[in-house]
Amino acid sequence: MSIKIAPSILSADFADFGREIRAIEDQGADWVHVDVMDGHFVPNLTFGPPAVKAFRPHVKTVMDVHLMIAPVDPFIEAYAVAGADILTAHVEAGPHIHRTLQAIRGAGMKAGVALNPGTPAEAVAHVLDLVDLVCVMTVNPGFGGQSFIDMTGKVRQLRTMLGDRPVHIEIDGGVDPSTAPKVVAAGADVLVAGSAVFKGGSVAEPEVYGRNIAAI
Ligand code: DX5
Ligand code: ZN
Repeated sequence: MSIKIAPSILSADFADFGREIRAIEDQGADWVHVDVMDGHFVPNLTFGPPAVKAFRPHVKTVMDVHLMIAPVDPFIEAYAVAGADILTAHVEAGPHIHRTLQAIRGAGMKAGVALNPGTPAEAVAHVLDLVDLVCVMTVNPGFGGQSFIDMTGKVRQLRTMLGDRPVHIEIDGGVDPSTAPKVVAAGADVLVAGSAVFKGGSVAEPEVYGRNIAAI
């Protein structure tokens, strides 16, 4: 699988999402990573289905929606209607991850499952046939700009568990030019990057985004 860069708009200008999304895609983003936070599962609050619906017309690549919320199931249909291409739920968000992933696919989206740093790879052993993506958190979720927590061992283990399944392993948190090679070598193929992409740039200077993306 080729390596994809998925900038997280959590680090974008919250007053200008449409232009920010167009800028990162013009500058080489493969996907757009959308961090949904509910102030309950994580100690931060961002946006919900109405905002994701507003982002949709600006996204020409893939809208990769990362749900840091609990419960997940009552909101699945709303994110499908809002236009999410991939919807990722945390295995820690509730007791019925198997049913949640079935419901995400049943709503017509690709399904992802995310694991916090403290969660072992074994936690998703019985749902690998229900996902298109496994998101390995390399920070404790809730904020951008945090330091990378090394999860290369978990990435290697997951790649072995996945065998020849065509499932993406996405790394989320603290990805930058120094940490990216480690996780790619371990078997990751999608790299989320917020601060490493948006730092020093703006919609007025989008070429900085392009340089930052190319450097990862
Ligand atoms: C954290 C989010 C990440 C974050 C990445 O809870 O899930 O996607 O925005 O930001 P950086 O790349 O700055 O760690
Ligand atoms: Zn994320």
